[in-house]
Amino acid sequence: MHTRVVVATVAAVLGTAAPLLSPAPGARAGEVGEAVKAGKVTAPTVVAHRGASAYAPENTLASIDKAAALGFTWVENDVQRTKDGELVVIHDDSLPRTTNVKTLFPGRAPWKVKDFTAAEIARLDAGRWFSPAYAGTRVPTLKQYMRRVEHNHESLLMEIKNPELYPGIERQALKLLGDEGWLDRGHLRRLIVQSFSADSVRKVHELRPAITTAFLGTPKVAQLHEYARSIDLVNPAYQSLSIGYVSAVHAFDGPHGKPLRVFAWTVNDTATARKVAGYRVDGVITNKPDVVRAALGSG
Ligand code: G3P
Ligand code: CA
Repeated sequence: MHTRVVVATVAAVLGTAAPLLSPAPGARAGEVGEAVKAGKVTAPTVVAHRGASAYAPENTLASIDKAAALGFTWVENDVQRTKDGELVVIHDDSLPRTTNVKTLFPGRAPWKVKDFTAAEIARLDAGRWFSPAYAGTRVPTLKQYMRRVEHNHESLLMEIKNPELYPGIERQALKLLGDEGWLDRGHLRRLIVQSFSADSVRKVHELRPAITTAFLGTPKVAQLHEYARSIDLVNPAYQSLSIGYVSAVHAFDGPHGKPLRVFAWTVNDTATARKVAGYRVDGVITNKPDVVRAALGSG
C-alpha cells in the first residue's frame, strides 16, 4: 500500500485527520497499535536487527537462520573489511566483544577488524560469548552471508559500517552483490543499503541508482530535500522520532519517485513498538522480531 494511503487509513481508523505535530503520544500510540494489531491498517515491516540477535549471536549465519525460523523475511547486518580486503559481517570495528580474538591473538591489541586477515578472522569463535550452544559459530564473509540470505529466501537491510575506515567499500560491496545476483530486478526488491554516512549512501546511489538506499539518522526537516535526491528511507533511532517528524519525511519523494519511508531502530518491547507504529513508521528494526510481531500483528 502507498505510504500516504496508509497514513490516511490510520487517520480514518482513528477518526481523525493526520496531525502534523506530535499529540500526547501515550494514548494515541496505543490506539494506533491496537488498530494495527486488529488488522485495520498495514503494519510496519519488521526487520531482524543483526539477525534475530536477541536469540542467536548477532551478524552470524545462525542469527539469520533464527530469523527465518521465527518466520521473518527481513534481516539487517553490518559490513566491514579485513586487512586483505575481504568483506565480512560484523558490527564493531574491533573484534573482542563478539569473538575470542584476545585468547587466540593476545598480542594484537586493539584487535581491529581492518588489522586482521580473513583467514585469521575465520578462526575466531563468534558464538560462545553469546551462549555455549553457539560455540564454533564463525564471523561470516559477506559472500557466505549473501548465499545464506538467498538460501533462506530472506531480504536484506545491509549497513555499510564505518566506511571512512574502508575506502572504496561501496564499489566493492556492490560488485559482490552483483556477482551474487543481487542487483537484478527481482533481488533489488529484497535489498536496501544503508549507512550512518550520508556520503557513503550517496556513493551507492551514484554507482547503482536502482538500489534502494537509507540514511541512518534524523536529518533536520530543512535538509530532507537534499537527502531525498539520493535516499529512499530515513532510518532514525526511535528515541528521536515524533509523529510530526515521520509526517515531514513522508512528504518528500525520493529518487525513485516514491515518498520517503521511515524504519525506526532499535525497538525491542511492546510499548515502544506500538508507540512508533503510532508515529506511522514504515518499518521497525528489532533484536526481538517476535515481540514486535506480537505487539503489532506484523511480520
Ligand atoms: O539498522 C539500524 C541499526 O543497525 C543502527 O545501529 O549500531 O546497531 O548498527 P547499529
Ligand atoms: Ca547496523
